[in-house]
Amino acid sequence: MRLDQVKTIGMLGGGVMGGGIAQILSIAGYNVVVRDLNDELVENTRGEVFEGKWGMKNAVVRGKLAADACEAAMARVSFTTDLKDLANVDFLIEAIPEKLELKQSVFKELDEIVKPDAIFASNTSGFVIQEIARDVSDARKQRFVGMHFSNPVPVMKICEVITTPQSTPETVEAAVGIAEKAGRVVAMVKDTPGSYGFIFNRIFAAARREADKLVEEGIATKEDIDKAMIHGRNWPVGFYQQRGGIGKQW
Ligand SMILES: NC(=O)c1ccc[n+]([C@@H]2O[C@H](COP(=O)([O-])OP(=O)(O)OC[C@H]3O[C@@H](n4cnc5c(N)ncnc54)[C@H](O)[C@@H]3O)[C@@H](O)[C@H]2O)c1
Repeated sequence: MRLDQVKTIGMLGGGVMGGGIAQILSIAGYNVVVRDLNDELVENTRGEVFEGKWGMKNAVVRGKLAADACEAAMARVSFTTDLKDLANVDFLIEAIPEKLELKQSVFKELDEIVKPDAIFASNTSGFVIQEIARDVSDARKQRFVGMHFSNPVPVMKICEVITTPQSTPETVEAAVGIAEKAGRVVAMVKDTPGSYGFIFNRIFAAARREADKLVEEGIATKEDIDKAMIHGRNWPVGFYQQRGGIGKQW
């Protein structure tokens, strides 16, 4: 599946990440089919995407999205509880809970249902993509990548694209192109068995461990660590206290 052939994207899971990803993709012009487990969950997602704090209508109020673009984007998103409604999507992004066995079994099921040339992507926070793709066909393994967005998706610009040795250049191009079309900045990551986590989470966790060590050793207070990072390194927020920086970007 080439980038220019991708018209409809399936979003598996309409939680915190799935709703945000569905939103940016529909604003980018893609038809999006969001699948969650029951009607209540689907209605929650619809509420978040359309009316939520980071949702489309608020984006209009904040002057980030034109009213007619909002209406058009809303019309491009549909919601379902039926996995079979994903059968004809061109590209599928999974954002279900971070449980390896769950992701493996759902992808196995989807491999049977979704058309053979569609590309699969996982928004895992850190699992090895080759392990998530373990039970899909060899042909699908070539059309499998990671796409790691950051929360809240409408605000945070990064998308790490994780490529495996099997991912074809066309697959990688499609993932990168979709992310860029949706206004993301792409950072490439090599899928590596034996590791967990990609770039920004691993570096953030390392810095957080060091900050906690400074507190434990009595060298600095949490408040002073936040002050040092916000004013010494221009971080929008510190580890220990939210300073409202994120909201100002959107
Ligand atoms: N929350 C974050 O900050 C964040 C950031 C980056 C990546 N991630 C990753 O994104 C993924 C989703 O995280 P989240 O925070 O959105 O979780 P979440 O719990 O908010 O949402 C997960 C959704 O998936 C649904 N679900 C479960 N099984 C399903 C199935 N078989 N089909 C369709 N829907 C199903 C659940 O009902 C739920 O609505 C995880 O892998 C997580 O590690 C999370």
